[in-house]
Amino acid sequence: MQIVRTLPELRQALAPHRRPAFVPTMGNLHAGHIALVEQARPLGDVLVASIFVNRLQFLPHEDFDSYPRTWEADCARLEAAGCQVLFAPRETDLYPQPQTFKVQPDPALADILEGQFRPGFFTGVCTVVMKLFSAVFSGHASGVAVFGQKDYQQLMMIRQMVQQFALPIEVQAGPTQRAPDGLALSSRNGYLSAPERESAVALSQALQQLAARWQAAPDAGAALEAQALDALRAQGWQPDYLTVRRRADLQPAGASDAAGTLVALGAARLGGTRLIDNREF
Ligand code: PAF
Repeated sequence: MQIVRTLPELRQALAPHRRPAFVPTMGNLHAGHIALVEQARPLGDVLVASIFVNRLQFLPHEDFDSYPRTWEADCARLEAAGCQVLFAPRETDLYPQPQTFKVQPDPALADILEGQFRPGFFTGVCTVVMKLFSAVFSGHASGVAVFGQKDYQQLMMIRQMVQQFALPIEVQAGPTQRAPDGLALSSRNGYLSAPERESAVALSQALQQLAARWQAAPDAGAALEAQALDALRAQGWQPDYLTVRRRADLQPAGASDAAGTLVALGAARLGGTRLIDNREF
């Protein structure tokens, strides 16, 4: 695996190839990331991953400084998964000047759910992903990028960005990987204490239960969401949202929306750790 830090090095490494397959990450890799890498492997003629903890997508009070950086272990896992080029820019490589030009996503999608509780988050994500795409794919007529479905709204945002800017990039979704008890794999699971880890599956269970109850009584929508929030609070969580949305635009679902077109999404804090998850139904 070739490790490159700068844009010119990356472009040189990718120049002989036709169609890069790309998995962007912030490092601290787990089996969920490796599944994305394995999914991406046959989709292009060179497999590229990036590790970059992107300051622009963290709010001042969030965990940018403490975000786990596990460089040696990440390199070993990527190499074992067949990654050929690892782009790991320093902050000064990706942002040599303050990044004053930003990608401003559609507020209808960016200011709801995650964006309501993490204002500016999606501007930070879209800006860095656009920059990474430009680094990886410029000079190539086509490419493919794989993003995890656990970050449901992020995936949708990236798809919209690619479509609206007519980027010659196919975006594929990687299914959420779960621990045996059902907890969605996430780098932030590492923040959980042992007792918190034991009860962390409650978020995924709350979403499954919300989806099941919604299917049984779609007219009761708002009450079901309120019940789900109360039930999670009673277990010691501080939920930001638990809600049923239309998959197509993440707008609130109604009784007339058919099963198979919906998704239950949630974000909640357990102790100091904020987790997100979703369930399509
Ligand atoms: O999902 C992530 O890890 C990040 O948001 C991403 C896409 C790598 C951009 O920093």
